[in-house]
Amino acid sequence: MKGIVFNMLNEMVEGVFGFEFWDEVITENDLESEGIYTSAGTYSDEEILQLVSTISEKKSIPIPDLLYQFGLFSFDYFKNNYEHFFKQDSSKKFLESVDPIIHVEVKKLYPSAFVPEFQYQYPDSKTMVMTYTSPRKLFDYAHGLIDATIKHFPQEANVERKDEENCCHFHIRYH
Ligand code: HEM
Repeated sequence: MKGIVFNMLNEMVEGVFGFEFWDEVITENDLESEGIYTSAGTYSDEEILQLVSTISEKKSIPIPDLLYQFGLFSFDYFKNNYEHFFKQDSSKKFLESVDPIIHVEVKKLYPSAFVPEFQYQYPDSKTMVMTYTSPRKLFDYAHGLIDATIKHFPQEANVERKDEENCCHFHIRYH
């Protein structure tokens, strides 16, 4: 996982619980990185899961809730730091750009990044089904990102998630 993800987690946790708490989380884990992350660096997936589960235990927040909140937070972070990806005028167009444009650019910027795969299907004129596949299975994180995206754009929609063993489907129904 890229350092930028760790930096986002750091920013969220410090904002909500303060610097001392983040420091505690870092020092309690015997981390290979010693808690120092540069955005272009690559750190083990294991390490982000260690941090998330420590935060979850200490604050009694279930891991899925934490990952969902982290998805909401990441959307704002991306909006503030990668403005050029937000030129689309609808959530549909924006979400359709994640796989073929945004994550392709992310791979150019950080060649060692490993991005998930999204597929898009249209069962009827008001529905888009976005299927998320990644060995990381961060379903709740993706869910937070998608809900935040829908909220950001004017057109209202319902999002329903259907999980499978190795992927999940987001049924996005526009009103
Ligand atoms: C401007 C918008 C976005 C940027 C700049 C961006 C960038 C990134 C970056 C840098 C990573 C980390 C890759 C790694 O650590 O190797 C990542 C991962 C991820 N992105 Fe995006 N992303 C954006 C929008 C989105 C949106 C809207 C979604 C959901 C629909 C999404 C879903 C994910 C997920 C779920 C991961 C976790 C990695 C995994 O599941 O394997 N991203 N993205």
